Amino acid sequence: MSFTVAIDGPAAAGKGTISKAVAAHFGFAHLDTGLLYRAVGKRLLSGEDAVLAAKDLRAEDLDVDGLRTPEVAQAASRVAVEPEVRQALVDFQRAFAARSGGAVLDGRDIGTVICPEAHAKLFVTASAEVRAERRFKELTEGGLETDFDTVLADVKARDERDQSRATAPLKPADDAVTIDTSGLSIEAAIAAAVAVVQKARG
Ligand code: DC
Repeated sequence: MSFTVAIDGPAAAGKGTISKAVAAHFGFAHLDTGLLYRAVGKRLLSGEDAVLAAKDLRAEDLDVDGLRTPEVAQAASRVAVEPEVRQALVDFQRAFAARSGGAVLDGRDIGTVICPEAHAKLFVTASAEVRAERRFKELTEGGLETDFDTVLADVKARDERDQSRATAPLKPADDAVTIDTSGLSIEAAIAAAVAVVQKARG
């Protein structure tokens, strides 16, 4: 396996930003695995069967518009409960992790299930309020009309579903380093993550 970095954590904790920055810093490829579940969730919303959609997923499906909406996020969290959907997405993720030149994968179960042998594992988290604040800002700046309480309720509902599902629930791997970004600037969070990966590279 080429050098693999697993970055897990709940919604809006800063995983995406940190993962992109770590990948850019080390010249690794990056896969946001949430997009796989979002692509399947979106196809479910348009009436398709989730398991068939997952089995038939292609790289191009990750590039379509509309994967970032709250509706699609909730649908993603719902399809992610189904073991057959998760199973259908395993090979895609492991093939990505195995590519030469190094890879960063971010998601919920990368360090625990998809790449338990990853060379560096991070669990990026923050309080539900801080995460809802960030998501609220992102959504309203993107032109969506919503209110903070709705966003907070959404974040909590997704946390609950992601943490309590039977298959591959969201939790830190035993050997993951946790970074709580609640009180950290983006720069400080990125620096902390880069330091963990640097140490693992030896
Ligand atoms: O990271 P995200 O918000 O884009 O993820 C959307 C949903 O997909 C999330 O609520 C749970 C699911 N997911 C998962 O179960 N496992 C992953 N590795 C990534 C995402």
